Amino acid sequence: MRRIITFGTFDVLHVGHIKILQRAKDMGDHLTVGLSSDALSIAKKGRAPVYPFTSRQTILKALRFVDTVFMEESLEKKREYIIQHKADALVMGNDWEGKFDEFEDICDVIYLPRTPSISTTEIIEIIKETDL
Ligand code: CTP
Repeated sequence: MRRIITFGTFDVLHVGHIKILQRAKDMGDHLTVGLSSDALSIAKKGRAPVYPFTSRQTILKALRFVDTVFMEESLEKKREYIIQHKADALVMGNDWEGKFDEFEDICDVIYLPRTPSISTTEIIEIIKETDL
């Protein structure tokens, strides 16, 4: 059984998220998602997620190609998480290209192309601009 791990905030779930999770699962038999805590998301992106951790987790767990979701509390603990979840491969979008090559000693490290023209940030901006 080949175990895949990926990480992210996955806030305001969109088609780019779905596609990377599907493609990650297609690379193995079991997909674990390290879902960034609200505090880690604020540290990474400079703003709070729209949906709090428990809502983001509930949404991801409902997807048929996601098997396990756990809380990613620190970027520094990635090696620990990979080992703890017995991952054979780390899959990330290519906005992270090269950033996780240091883990090639413990698992395959694969960067997949991002889906163009969509991100949570852009969705939030569009909603803000909508004249209600
Ligand atoms: N991702 C993707 N295609 C997109 C957007 C995201 O493949 N269009 C991938 C990222 O590369 C990452 C995962 O989805 O591996 C989670 O990314 P996340 O940062 O949570 O989503 P974004 O939409 O990029 O969020 P933001 O705009 O807040 O940075």
